[in-house]
Amino acid sequence: MAILKIARMGHPALRRPASPVDDPLAPEIRRLAADMIATMDDAGGTGLAAPQVHVPLRMVVFRVAASRVGDGLGAVPTTVLINPEIIPLDESVETAFEACLSVPGLTGPVARLVHIGYAGWGLDGSRIAREARGFHARVVQHECDHLDGVLYPARMADISALGFVEELRRAAQQGDSA
Ligand code: NI
Repeated sequence: MAILKIARMGHPALRRPASPVDDPLAPEIRRLAADMIATMDDAGGTGLAAPQVHVPLRMVVFRVAASRVGDGLGAVPTTVLINPEIIPLDESVETAFEACLSVPGLTGPVARLVHIGYAGWGLDGSRIAREARGFHARVVQHECDHLDGVLYPARMADISALGFVEELRRAAQQGDSA
């Protein structure tokens, strides 16, 4: 396993649409998945898409802790999703702050679908098909956006709300004590 270099906003690797993976069972895809998971963990991320590590393929990894999933729903185990598709299951959207390993230090509010289905292939060639809500659904939408060359600031309704995590946290704390 190797820790891969993560491209940052402005790098052309993040703007190109990625190509489908021809063979999810290929050894190099298995190796890439292991490296992406190691890289995600090293960076403390929730998800990572192949274009973020300079590989223009439609493949994402993510995992969601039980504490972030929501009431009554279990944690989402470490998932490798190849050639993913998203199926909206409801029109309702919810706005929440997002961050991205390719946009380090920053955060901003993004509206995302609350309830989706998603599908793709696993590393063993099996079909993965799940339903997701809330934060889980947000993570999948964020990661799949990377496959189309889209970073979350491009999804923000008000770009002036983009800020450094540190500054927004400080402002929120000051607000609390005022
Ligand atoms: Ni991201």
